[in-house]
Amino acid sequence: ADAAGAILNAPGLFLPSLPARRAAAHKGTFGTVAIVGGDTGTCGATLLSARAALSAGAGRVHAVMLGTGAPAYDAPHPEIMIRAADKFDWDSADALSVGAGMGRSDSARAVLGRAIETGKPAVLDADALNLLADDGALAARAAAAGDRFVLTPHPGEAARLLGTDTGTVEANRPGALRQLQQRFRCTVVLKGSGTLIGRVGAPALLNPTGNAGLASGGTGDVLGGLIGAFLAQRLSPGDAAAAAVYWHGRAAETLAERGIGPAGLTAGELAPEVRGLMNQA
Ligand code: APR
Ligand code: MG
Repeated sequence: ADAAGAILNAPGLFLPSLPARRAAAHKGTFGTVAIVGGDTGTCGATLLSARAALSAGAGRVHAVMLGTGAPAYDAPHPEIMIRAADKFDWDSADALSVGAGMGRSDSARAVLGRAIETGKPAVLDADALNLLADDGALAARAAAAGDRFVLTPHPGEAARLLGTDTGTVEANRPGALRQLQQRFRCTVVLKGSGTLIGRVGAPALLNPTGNAGLASGGTGDVLGGLIGAFLAQRLSPGDAAAAAVYWHGRAAETLAERGIGPAGLTAGELAPEVRGLMNQA
């Protein structure tokens, strides 16, 4: 919320312009995003997120895997470049989305520290947030890095970051958002029904889109990929978060109009729907 505590929700506020798809565009125009996670056994979350980043128009998408057992390539989307975290060239990315399926191992902690140090705009989600909640020094480094980050906690992750419980977060969502922003000084997306977006230097937003079809595993990973793709396309963290949250929710609505959800909506179905909505907007 701004000084007056206003929380805005007009759809136009969520839709900043993306780079024009001019005839002379090349893939560098739309940036390279690295989706970082992929602990052993949870690389599916990372791939879901990477596929969403492709659909949201990133020029190039890397999926950076910490663990073993990741496939050599993603069969439905061989466009995704799967990389091992210890060999990844961080300079090759314009933006990062860190946390989907990442786990909380020592190597995950080291990779998160490396991601913070790159100086690149980044989404911090899921286990990246849990690692920040566990490690005050790492959290302080993130907070010192300024408005380069988008934190995307669900209420449970927000509670861990604030050292409280989920019920307390849910009882005063604008208050929790404010506390997270005071602590981290960056864009914060407090997820769940009535997602709030706290921006730096601009009023908070209350997302008007979405439905209960989003209450299924993997939809958060898709959101993290969308935001990462918009960061790679050089949107500001606040604009990238707002656009991604809006389209993610809108996709759930238009899919439900065709009987694809709310019951049984699968997270992977959101990304192509977002692509269609964006191109027709
Ligand atoms: N109405 C509108 N939107 C909703 C609703 C609802 N009733 N329920 C969920 N959503 C949206 C949220 O706003 C968010 O964008 O769906 C997304 C869910 O994201 P997460 O809670 O992060 O869920 P997800 O990541 O898909 O799965 C849970 O998250 O943090 C990890 O380790 C955790 O494995 C767990 C995983
Ligand atoms: Mg999640």
